[in-house]
Amino acid sequence: MTKRFDGQVVLITGASSGIGRTTAVAFAREGARLVVTGRRREQLDDTLAQIQAAGAEGVAVVGDVSQAVDVRRMVDAAVNTFGALHCAFNNAGIEGGKAFVPTADYDEDIWDEVVAINLTGVFLSMKYEIRQMLVQGGGAIVNMSSVAGLIGTRIGIGYGATKHGVIGATKAAAMEYAAQGIRVNAVCPGVVRTEMTERAFFHDAQLAAAMTARHPIGRLVTSEEVAAAVLWLSSSDASATTGLALPVDGGLTVP
Ligand SMILES: NC(=O)c1ccc[n+]([C@@H]2O[C@H](COP(=O)([O-])OP(=O)(O)OC[C@H]3O[C@@H](n4cnc5c(N)ncnc54)[C@H](O)[C@@H]3O)[C@@H](O)[C@H]2O)c1
Repeated sequence: MTKRFDGQVVLITGASSGIGRTTAVAFAREGARLVVTGRRREQLDDTLAQIQAAGAEGVAVVGDVSQAVDVRRMVDAAVNTFGALHCAFNNAGIEGGKAFVPTADYDEDIWDEVVAINLTGVFLSMKYEIRQMLVQGGGAIVNMSSVAGLIGTRIGIGYGATKHGVIGATKAAAMEYAAQGIRVNAVCPGVVRTEMTERAFFHDAQLAAAMTARHPIGRLVTSEEVAAAVLWLSSSDASATTGLALPVDGGLTVP
């Protein structure tokens, strides 16, 4: 039986845990060949083992998305190992220090770090992925934004600003390359329980309950639900969809 991504080469940043890892395994189950990247070798190897257990091929590349030289290595690894790059999920991101620190108290070093990873990382990833996709004559990119890229939140100015920025960057690249067969979209998840939100919210039972209650569906979003949206946006089923910032948020941004 043919699978949705049979033979396609998919690059995922920040695949050593959380939504990135779940999405890598979801692509693997659909027949893709994976290039998984992140900063932590051991965790990336765990992701790779899960990809192989799903019956797919993969390669792990350790690197930092805020460094152009590392991002070029990630894209080169796709081409050198599998000969192409069809899809990319630019997922790597950080919360930017402690949650709910207001702007007047927000640390300048944390601002620089969160901009470097969440926004410059997405720009650099798109830059080198698109160069390869132009050579091949097309491709599909999904960038990781957040509900914090669609509405105002008090999570932290760095996070909100960069996640709004990801949507702006997504729309710009979508317009620039639509005629060349490269689609660029973004996903905007509600709260998913991962290492990042464990640090930010779930250490505090009251805060965890408040975050959960913000979702009209009455529960958190799962990483599998985000992965399903990423796979759809990456697939030929979404062939007329580009420049979209798709909420996967249980209705959080509706009211
Ligand atoms: N969990 C949520 O509720 C939620 C909601 C909306 C958006 N997001 C976004 O989803 C993405 C994934 O987060 P997650 O929740 O799965 O948390 P996570 O911490 O499990 O995953 C983030 C991944 O990015 C990697 N990473 C961080 N900095 C990096 C860098 N400089 N270079 C390469 N990799 C780097 C981390 O090592 C990690 O594997 C993030 O961009 C986050 O902002 C998460």
